[in-house]
Amino acid sequence: MDMSTIPQTIAIIMDGNGRWAKKQGLPRTAGHKQGAEQIRVIALYANRIGVKKLILYAFSTENWKRPEDEVSYLCKLPEFFFNRYIKELMENNIRVTFAGELERFPDYTQRVINKAVAQTAGNTGLDLCIAINYGSRRELTLAMRRYAQDVKDGRCNNDITEQEVAGYLMVPENVDLMIRTSGELRISNYLLWQIAYAELIFTPVAWPDFDEKALLECIEEYQSRDRRFGGLSK
Ligand code: IPE
Ligand code: IPE
Ligand code: MG
Repeated sequence: MDMSTIPQTIAIIMDGNGRWAKKQGLPRTAGHKQGAEQIRVIALYANRIGVKKLILYAFSTENWKRPEDEVSYLCKLPEFFFNRYIKELMENNIRVTFAGELERFPDYTQRVINKAVAQTAGNTGLDLCIAINYGSRRELTLAMRRYAQDVKDGRCNNDITEQEVAGYLMVPENVDLMIRTSGELRISNYLLWQIAYAELIFTPVAWPDFDEKALLECIEEYQSRDRRFGGLSK
């Protein structure tokens, strides 16, 4: 791997937990649990190779449509995850952040999340950003509302720049590499503004099986691409 061209910002649509579980005759929740374990594996690896920000899609604004018991299991996963791994995240200098409207989650979920954010706020390694109750259209809608209010209140005028638009979003960074696991070829309302020039990789590997080697292969594929940004090859 060429260490000088590691993607700075990687976004992953962690898909396929349910199908992975079904294949082994387990309930869907078992897939989500193994999926949480993979978050640890991939975050530690991304941190080690110098990725700056890893944005993981864990729960979309559309995932509330799922059965109540599945949603309620997912709401409890942050507690399981941070109780188990916050120490290791601290030891590895990893900062935890979130993107999404957290207010819709139960109090205990919000408490655990806020604690992890506060505890790791001073860390300077990987920014592990977990997108929950995140949807790109919702993000853009909220951004427009805030901008309109800022104009109305005289805090800014209406000549907004691209950079300032990014500043109104939950995730301001440009994504370099976007990966979707488990074979679906769609974006599912994820980071629409931010992936304008991302390299896209769709892998058949289910998220619970997505390990260091799988990420390494994606990065090698990314490094073999010619990112022209509308210009010509160097
Ligand atoms: C991704 O796995 C996790 C969430 C969306 C919460 P899925 O639960 O979507 O798994 P499949 O796509 O049904 O296999
Ligand atoms: C996208 O996966 C959301 C997450 C991985 C959190 P979904 O499984 O919800 O997406 P669709 O329904 O297949 O588009
Ligand atoms: Mg899915």
